[in-house]
Amino acid sequence: MVRRTTRWETCLWAQTLLAVATANCPSVVPSPTNFSVVYTMPFFQARNPIQNIVNHSQYQEVYVASQNAIEAVNRSLEKVWELRTGPVGSPECEICDLCDVDKDPNFLEDTDNQVLLLDTLYMSLYSCGGSQYGVCYIHQLKANGAPPSPSKCLFRKESNSAANCPDCLASGLGTKATMVEEGQTLYFFVAATVNDSVTQRYGRKSLSVRRPLATEDGFYGDVRGLTVTSGLRRTYGIRYVYSFHTREFVYFLSVQRESPDHESSPLQTRLGRLPRNEWEMKRYREVVLECRFEPKRRRRRRSSVGGEPYRDVVYNVVQAAHFGRAGRELAAQLGAEEDDDILYGVFAVTGDDGVTEDDSALCAFPIGNVNRAIDDGVDDCCTSGPEQLSRGLCHFQPCESCPHEVSP
Ligand SMILES: *[C@@H]1O[C@H](CO)[C@@H](O)[C@H](O)[C@H]1NC(C)=O
Ligand SMILES: *[C@@H]1O[C@H](CO)[C@@H](O)[C@H](O)[C@H]1NC(C)=O
Ligand SMILES: *[C@@H]1O[C@H](CO)[C@@H](O)[C@H](O)[C@H]1NC(C)=O
Ligand SMILES: *[C@@H]1O[C@H](CO)[C@@H](O)[C@H](O)[C@H]1NC(C)=O
Repeated sequence: MVRRTTRWETCLWAQTLLAVATANCPSVVPSPTNFSVVYTMPFFQARNPIQNIVNHSQYQEVYVASQNAIEAVNRSLEKVWELRTGPVGSPECEICDLCDVDKDPNFLEDTDNQVLLLDTLYMSLYSCGGSQYGVCYIHQLKANGAPPSPSKCLFRKESNSAANCPDCLASGLGTKATMVEEGQTLYFFVAATVNDSVTQRYGRKSLSVRRPLATEDGFYGDVRGLTVTSGLRRTYGIRYVYSFHTREFVYFLSVQRESPDHESSPLQTRLGRLPRNEWEMKRYREVVLECRFEPKRRRRRRSSVGGEPYRDVVYNVVQAAHFGRAGRELAAQLGAEEDDDILYGVFAVTGDDGVTEDDSALCAFPIGNVNRAIDDGVDDCCTSGPEQLSRGLCHFQPCESCPHEVSP
């Protein structure tokens, strides 16, 4: 099934890419787990629920971010240092005062960690929270378990204002970011959930590309981006679930409603894509990912005889995802090669009322198929055909038809 849904820019629309989850039993059954054995695992108890984790293989440390703190643990999962990132206004957060952002003296603002990124070239850790209008900090990491020093705030008061804030990056409603290095330039690809408050004062964008300044005190001022149009911000939420990159592109996995105009239209999972060496948005593309469970033919017949109606289940909402490779057998089943990039997602069924059912499926999407689906969408939009096509993405841009349909 290929259902056409979304398009973008002068020449794009995207179609649905389908992956099928099948109930294949592994041919080799592993020996059953003995549940009476008590396994003692090394563990680290973070201060608060963990919001982001980064593994630093050179320093053999793991950075664990939770509300108001970044903690570093070593190979034996023992804490080697801690950096307080909030609450803003409290003496516990020493770095908070590095940012010359206006604050309410009567209010302690908690910092939920939204972004935690490691630059292994310069051994810097970037963190951005939902507090202080989503500004970021850079922490210079040290070897051998020494705490990072110095930390700097990436906010220049003179270059930012409530009306225009290129240094405001993360949203407290949820943010996913990916960092790529092209030559000596770092790019932050940022996807943030926004509402009117988040976009209006010290505004953040839904999608944007930021380049940190070499002076380590902010980001380049010419920020291009896409933001949910003002008329839809109250009703059309986009929840970003995951972000990753390949050698060519950066991808954002999101959950949003099928139609921005219908508040009860079905939720669906989408994958957005930007070229990784550009900071403009004109080549932003999107595809709908559909994870289905198609029971085997045999089972289908049996179940219809047994009276239980056959159900072709669409697992519409991604819960968690991982980008990686496949082993030889799975790659062969997917029609992919062993070194092909694959996006894995665990999907669940969520009704139009937002209630998630207690059932899930794992689907694997070879990235080559994703890119082909996107290219096909672009071709369909740019070459004339009998169908009436809309270029889509009407929550980011005016709804328009494909170029071949626009009458002169
Ligand atoms: C499971 O572990 C318990 C405790 O170590 C042991 O007594 C029992 O024999 C084990 N059972 C099996 C089936 O290995
Ligand atoms: C994390 O880093 C360690 C080295 O400290 C490495 O052995 C391990 O494979 C890394 N884990 C992941 C998931 O990358
Ligand atoms: C981890 O840190 C603890 C506390 O500093 C130290 O005792 C331990 O030796 C370290 N482990 C490793 C593998 O470095
Ligand atoms: C936007 O979300 C924030 C939570 O981060 C909330 O405090 C605020 O009231 C929301 N604004 C609107 C206009 O809904």
